[in-house]
Amino acid sequence: MIIAVDGPAASGKGTIARALAQHYGLPHLDTGLLYRAVAAAVLREDLDPSREADAVSACSFEDYLLDDPWLRTDEVGKVASVVSAHPLVRAALLNRQKKFARQAGGAVLDGRDIGTVIAPDADVKLFVKATPMIRAQRRHLELRKNGVLTSLDKVLADIRARDERDSKRTEAPMLQAPDAALLDTSFLSIDAAVQRAIAIVESKTNPASTPA
Ligand code: CDP
Repeated sequence: MIIAVDGPAASGKGTIARALAQHYGLPHLDTGLLYRAVAAAVLREDLDPSREADAVSACSFEDYLLDDPWLRTDEVGKVASVVSAHPLVRAALLNRQKKFARQAGGAVLDGRDIGTVIAPDADVKLFVKATPMIRAQRRHLELRKNGVLTSLDKVLADIRARDERDSKRTEAPMLQAPDAALLDTSFLSIDAAVQRAIAIVESKTNPASTPA
């Protein structure tokens, strides 16, 4: 079974994808980490993320680099959304993701274009969303926990800028696949959101069960 989970920053897609993978005993790939790894290499080598050739030259990284905690910082996330707009960067990372999706037994992948580009044939597609303000509050809290002091306004502006870049780019923009189930987590606890996601998977794969 392939489960595709897409959605914007801080929508809860990563948490939901991890929980689904655990629930169904499937391997999970956070595809955002791949773009973050490219961004980290660009920053490390002092390259220009807006230059496609520079970003492409940073695409052949080793798997172990995906475990670097620096990749998860906001600094790297911002640059990830710049390098991810380059068609040649997306092409360079395509096979790796498709191979992961098609492995025997299935997989859960989360990102922006899983249901539309990476696994259009996924058994279940979820598009996870939440209002920009709620996502900014979640991210702000997370940053504060990690000792990063910044204002909520700045986090909200960053979230809006990232949404704009991710949904306006011409190559594989972030959008809900027509056959994806929408899951709005704005007013749901993590547990409630995960339960809702499991109910959606059940209703798609086992139609006799209670519809989500
Ligand atoms: O969840 P958050 O937005 O903080 O980060 P992420 O999912 O790790 O993604 C970082 C950036 O990578 C996003 O802003 C997107 O620009 C890009 N990305 C993408 O273009 N396609 C994907 N499948 C996953 C991430």
